[in-house]
Amino acid sequence: MLMRKIYIAGNWKMNKGLQETKNFLETVIPELNKLKLENVIPLIAPAYPFLEEALKGSYGSCMQVSAQDVSVHSEGAYTGEVSAGMLASLGLKYCIVGHSERRQYHNETDATVNAKILKLFENHITPLVCIGETLQQREEGKTENVILSQLSGCLKNIKLLSGEEIILAYEPVWAIGTGKTATPSQAQEVHNLIRNWLKSNYSDKVAEKLSLLYGGSIKPGNLQELLDCEDIDGGLIGGASLKEEDFLEMVQIGR
Ligand code: G3P
Repeated sequence: MLMRKIYIAGNWKMNKGLQETKNFLETVIPELNKLKLENVIPLIAPAYPFLEEALKGSYGSCMQVSAQDVSVHSEGAYTGEVSAGMLASLGLKYCIVGHSERRQYHNETDATVNAKILKLFENHITPLVCIGETLQQREEGKTENVILSQLSGCLKNIKLLSGEEIILAYEPVWAIGTGKTATPSQAQEVHNLIRNWLKSNYSDKVAEKLSLLYGGSIKPGNLQELLDCEDIDGGLIGGASLKEEDFLEMVQIGR
């Protein structure tokens, strides 16, 4: 029987300071504790300065905490950078890499993402790797090529055995923060492409166990129809993850 983990993952981006992080957790954690979540993993990705507070506030609950990025370097004179070792020393278990905002504003390439994945693996942190095409690429009929090339670039020389050591998120750039969600069939088509690529390039087992999230203008009102798709195993959610009640509603939908 298919038992992939379903992630309801909130990418807070550059939102929520210390007090807002505390308030969110004080509201959400007691409610999560009342739910019997078996296969659904709620996760939040606050900004670096609030990771420790988020870890403290989530301690003992099913809430997982992720960083939003990591350096390709291990240590040294890299002002402003945070290494995978530093994240691991906090007890962090997840980190987003390759988000389109990093690619767009910080010139990150698939090779950068690949290097970051390797650093995270060395430090036993699960990478949540984002890929996705731009509107122009979709309109030019290049979606499939872009996705396949991002997959082979990001996962170059990355060994996967169980499929649970990494999470992938398909985030069409044109759907991020635009209110324009991919239709379930558009999303499913790409997720199926990715699943088949994993089968051919890794194994049936990896393809079957790897959680493949969709991201882009998810909200409580459209999550169910996306989760109903065979190859969609949760959401990477920006704006709608910031409100406690919406986050909780989406966790309930994921159950
Ligand atoms: O990583 C999540 C994201 O980029 C989607 O953002 O605000 O469209 O849900 P949003």
